[in-house]
Amino acid sequence: MSDTAQAQVAAAARLERLWARGRALLGTRYAILGGAMSWVSERHLVSAISNAGGFGVIACGAMTPDLLEREIAATQALTTQPFGVNLITMHPQLDALVDVCLAAGVGHIVFAGGLPPGAAMRRAKDGGAKVIAFAPALVLAKRLVRTGVDGLVIEGSEAGGHIGPVSLTVLAQEILPHISEVPVFVAGGLGRGDAVAGMLEMGASGAQLGTLFAAASESIAHENFKRAFLRASARDALPSVQLDERFPVIPVRGLVNAGTRRFLAHQAETLQRFQSGELTRDAAQLEIEQFWAGALRRAVIDGDVENGSVMAGQSVGMVSDVLPVATIVSTLVEQAIAALARRGEGAGTDQRSEHSAA
Ligand SMILES: Cc1cc2nc3c(=O)[nH]c(=O)nc-3n(C[C@H](O)[C@H](O)[C@H](O)COP(=O)(O)O)c2cc1C
Repeated sequence: MSDTAQAQVAAAARLERLWARGRALLGTRYAILGGAMSWVSERHLVSAISNAGGFGVIACGAMTPDLLEREIAATQALTTQPFGVNLITMHPQLDALVDVCLAAGVGHIVFAGGLPPGAAMRRAKDGGAKVIAFAPALVLAKRLVRTGVDGLVIEGSEAGGHIGPVSLTVLAQEILPHISEVPVFVAGGLGRGDAVAGMLEMGASGAQLGTLFAAASESIAHENFKRAFLRASARDALPSVQLDERFPVIPVRGLVNAGTRRFLAHQAETLQRFQSGELTRDAAQLEIEQFWAGALRRAVIDGDVENGSVMAGQSVGMVSDVLPVATIVSTLVEQAIAALARRGEGAGTDQRSEHSAA
């Protein structure tokens, strides 16, 4: 075997070791999660990701238990591979949604939008599901581990959708060296396998991507939505802007458009109406919060990318074509292997137990 071929084989083996814990938790060939995206992560995209060796995750969003039950069944009809369901913790029927997942035999529940309530966590675990949760800071990561989560996601502010304030580079340094009890998946701004490999070397057990998959051929997102992704660069995917500290705006990263510009003007007008006494503080806050109601659906499903919310991460600049999910996944894996091979480390001799993967 040539030196290059040997380096490739060693790098592929190293990748297996680096993300072994992530693969074991997910039950997949690759420790790559397709992050749940409201309106986008439905049966077609989720099953395509799982069939490609990754881990698809249904975005429950505001679905009722009935709708979720149907979506799970439809996904199961398209794949025999493992996939998960993402539940938003403030959903008023959270317990019923957990029960739907358990009854359908969904093996993994991802709680998003806040720390999972203890009762829902216990319900999921007692029912035999693995629980994954988002850790926005080390202290919360440790608390989640104590409460029995099976895996964590740390999502940097580079990500698309609702975001926290800290970049993945910093979160990874804050959290990865200190959490060894459960596998940690990294998310936010990942567009190439090289970056995934780097994070695995820092101690991550896998990666979660959203933006790249939103533009995949199997994604049901409107062609206008995908075209907007193809045109955009990293600099076009900006967090929503809050005009006044008295009226908080939950930061959402998406492509700048007429809607994001109008949102600023809307906040200014609402502020004036509050200051003139026309609106109470609560009414003004509600006005601001309701501006984006239904806006993601408008962009994803209806294709109104000027007025809708085109949620996208900074990795949108790396979306240059509409590709099948299998191509996206295999490219990520090839890039990760090539990056590890380039490191030239331990060709055939690297016997370290990578992050307790052995
Ligand atoms: C269009 C879109 C919608 C999203 N919706 C959700 C959601 O409903 N729930 C959730 O937990 N994360 C959501 N996310 C975040 C993704 O699951 C994922 O963590 C994120 O996209 C990863 O970062 P990346 O965009 O840089 O790949 C969304 C992201 C995008 C781009």
